[in-house]
Amino acid sequence: MHRRTDLWGPDAEIFDPGRFLDERLKYLTSNPFIFLPFNAGPRICLGQQFAYNEISFFLVCLLQTFSSITLAEDVQTRPPAGLAKGMGRNSQEKVIIKHHLTLYVDKGLWVRMGKASDADNM
Ligand code: HEM
Repeated sequence: MHRRTDLWGPDAEIFDPGRFLDERLKYLTSNPFIFLPFNAGPRICLGQQFAYNEISFFLVCLLQTFSSITLAEDVQTRPPAGLAKGMGRNSQEKVIIKHHLTLYVDKGLWVRMGKASDADNM
């Protein structure tokens, strides 16, 4: 559902969190029921706001500790040969998402992180 072009626009296949920050937000504001990680309606997840607070706190701590995070493309070669010529997002993306009970990154997410100096935090 979160990849449907009729709901999210022509670039729905592309992983681009920027879509929540620019004019493409119109798709969600006009129809909030298209975004369902916490479901919606009377049985919506009771911990939604708690989860948002928790991940926000984690991200702030992460960004206070590391000033750069880059994908280690020399360690992981994405997309795998079989997917490179395929249709959709798997042919373009450098990180391949898989799903089980929850989502995860296939074979791990390899990054290089630069430790923030005290000067970065002032
Ligand atoms: C990223 C984190 C989380 C996600 C993606 C998530 C997702 C969901 C989903 C999809 C449902 C099912 C809603 C339905 O049946 O229609 C649900 C229900 C629920 N969640 Fe979460 N949840 C998260 C974190 C949490 C946390 C941190 C708590 C508690 C502190 C929590 C408490 C609940 C409760 C109590 C329900 C049952 C609500 C009901 O049936 O009325 N969740 N959650």
